[in-house]
Amino acid sequence: MKILITGGAGFIGSAIAKRLMDRGDRVVLVDNFNDYYDLQLKEDRIRKFLKGYRNKRGEDKKGKFTLYRADIRNAARMERIFAKEKPGKVIHLAAMAGVRASLENPVLYADVNVVGTTVMLDVAAKHKIRNFVYASSSSVYGDCAKVPFSEDERADKPVSPYAATKKATELLAYTYYHLYKMPVTALRYFTVYGPWGRPDMGVFKFPERIINGEVIDVYNRGKMERSFTYIDDIASGTIVALDADLDGANVLNIGNDRTVKLMDFIKAVEKTVGAKAKKRMLNMQPGDVVRTSADISKIRALGWAPTTHIEEGIAVFVDWYRAYYGM
Ligand SMILES: NC(=O)c1ccc[n+]([C@@H]2O[C@H](COP(=O)([O-])OP(=O)(O)OC[C@H]3O[C@@H](n4cnc5c(N)ncnc54)[C@H](O)[C@@H]3O)[C@@H](O)[C@H]2O)c1
Repeated sequence: MKILITGGAGFIGSAIAKRLMDRGDRVVLVDNFNDYYDLQLKEDRIRKFLKGYRNKRGEDKKGKFTLYRADIRNAARMERIFAKEKPGKVIHLAAMAGVRASLENPVLYADVNVVGTTVMLDVAAKHKIRNFVYASSSSVYGDCAKVPFSEDERADKPVSPYAATKKATELLAYTYYHLYKMPVTALRYFTVYGPWGRPDMGVFKFPERIINGEVIDVYNRGKMERSFTYIDDIASGTIVALDADLDGANVLNIGNDRTVKLMDFIKAVEKTVGAKAKKRMLNMQPGDVVRTSADISKIRALGWAPTTHIEEGIAVFVDWYRAYYGM
């Protein structure tokens, strides 16, 4: 099976690509290597984590993956890549992903996330893709009062431009299923953390700053909670959704069903690092939500459950961070 992954140099995309290659799938990666965060990390995910990035054409020695440095908004380029590679399935993850940054740059977020996803859906439908799996987000639930968050909620009150773009992609995907009967599955990921993570996220910054003895900004004075989900669990859940080949237009939560308080997350990091956090307690930020909490009964029914405990996941992250940054 050949699988095309957009956002393949990203945190989640590279982890999924590795897993798929390990089990023998052929993988085509598409990423524009934008500079939203440290570009070196994206390059290293390809060279060091996925290994085998050997030749100038972007093919590895074993021919397991091909890398295209391309923008998903470029419809003609996407068409050429699909025509050449003929993927059977698509995992569409490329996006502008930061909640807070979306308030500064809403037009860019709409452009990449909504226009880019429309391009991908359109090209995929023309090429009769068997399964189009794509990243939505727990942020579509906004300030949903009913916990845990269930896919059956309307979730139509997003509180940031980012969240609104993710909801928009779910509506567009439904349309493409309706018109062309291309099966689509939205994956609503809940706060993902782990090695090779995204430096703009709190789950990366907290351990980083505690390791370096720097001050951490704790919003809403720490009164927040999240379904923190380890990267390997996210990757395995995505592959379960890919393999399930569900018909129709589907939405699945992928998250940890154990919700953790932010202050407990910080305490777990302090314990692992062996240092006290210097905390700056701040008010809630616009666009942010107090809580995320995943109801995972739907994906559980497909045979998936998270397996990584928060303390275990933090320990792996801290080890990776120290090794990667040469500490
Ligand atoms: N990390 C999380 O906690 C989380 C939670 C919910 C949803 N998501 C979603 O999961 C997906 C992957 O997130 P991630 O954490 O790996 O983020 P990431 O930023 O590490 O990965 C996204 C990748 O997409 C690429 N990209 C951005 N715009 C592009 C464009 N126009 N053309 C081609 N490539 C482009 C980026 O260069 C990047 O490598 C995103 O859609 C994100 O919104 C992530």
